[in-house]
Amino acid sequence: MSELLLTGISEIATPFGEGAKRGAAMGELRVVQRAAIAIDAGVISWMGPERDWSGRAETVIDVGGRAVVPGLIDPHTHAVWAGDRLADFEARSAGATYEEILAAGGGIWHTIRETADKSCEEMAALALPRVQALQRSGATTIEVKSGYGYTLEAELKMLEAIQLLQERIESRLVPTLLVHICPEERGEQKRYRKMVCGELIPEVARRGLAAAVDIFVERHAWSAVDARVILACAKAAGLSIKMHTEQFQRVGGLEVGVEMGALSVDHLEVCSAEQCAVVARSQTIATILPGVSLHLGLPAAPGRALIDAGAAVAIGTDLNPGSSPLFSTAAAMGLAMRLNGLTAAEALTACTANASAALGLDDVGRLEVGMLADLLVLESADWRELPYTLGQSVVREVCVAGRRQVA
Ligand code: NIG
Ligand code: FE
Repeated sequence: MSELLLTGISEIATPFGEGAKRGAAMGELRVVQRAAIAIDAGVISWMGPERDWSGRAETVIDVGGRAVVPGLIDPHTHAVWAGDRLADFEARSAGATYEEILAAGGGIWHTIRETADKSCEEMAALALPRVQALQRSGATTIEVKSGYGYTLEAELKMLEAIQLLQERIESRLVPTLLVHICPEERGEQKRYRKMVCGELIPEVARRGLAAAVDIFVERHAWSAVDARVILACAKAAGLSIKMHTEQFQRVGGLEVGVEMGALSVDHLEVCSAEQCAVVARSQTIATILPGVSLHLGLPAAPGRALIDAGAAVAIGTDLNPGSSPLFSTAAAMGLAMRLNGLTAAEALTACTANASAALGLDDVGRLEVGMLADLLVLESADWRELPYTLGQSVVREVCVAGRRQVA
């Protein structure tokens, strides 16, 4: 006897088979028409055409001819911050660039000044409605980064705030330590790097506060040489590694990230054709962030070229106050079709199976017996309404490990 049976599913659309999908395989989905899904102890125990179900269930829910897809996985957010960046938005609309604002001590520096002295409770309270919005948009797993702390204490406090946040939201949060911005002065840079390697990373690893370490490699942030040192410390501490890279300039980050076995390299707006091939030859996921292209008016990352080169692409919102105030993972999926040239099937794979791989997870990202029952019931009978519809949610129900949340 199963605990729960969902019937009346017009179609289930899901990636299939273990691990990340690369190149042409990103466009291959399993579609089961007129389907049913049985759930026991939060896990999918049966799935197939409804007419083939011969078991019994304690509770049967008819979803009324609607489509079901895997819960979306948002592999890149900065959902914890205080203050706002409305002055930047205004300045950029008058012609200033994101990089100029950052170089002048604004931008990310401004958010650090607003965030670092907030209490853990204040940070969690500010972040809760943001992750709730992502959950309503379909995200059942959400990565959340630190990076607006900038001292040992403030970075640890951000990660503690993410722990506190997890107690208040059903969706799974995956915390990442982000080594974000770099002091201007070389002596200070060395001092900060020493603190990160000697104190912050060991403490984060010891307390299990993050699954991975991310670093922002850019002309106005860390160099590829610094990234190599810091990411080596992260690996030595048993943490996975990730990188913000090729957002504005090519300063060697992508190559270091791939060479060191990063789970993902993220942004890639200025990734060249040769670099697409470098990523494609590796196990590293290419995470694209179309909300940034939209909000900053930057060229979009070459999603189409990455897939054509054979890479595995994931999509994230990059939810943050400066470069991507995008509170919908489903909208990121729809933007990737319009701005980065992905097909609907590729975009679904990028937001599920490949985003799961970008976080090093193996129990979510596709609907299959034995996987967690993280799934979405859509308003529509056709799953493609999910990336198609703009400005309104087509997510009717969000199911996290079998627990139904009305979206
Ligand atoms: O992913 N590029 C660096 N970090 C973030 C932006 C953070 C901010 O502007 O506050 C990003 O775009
Ligand atoms: Fe980011």
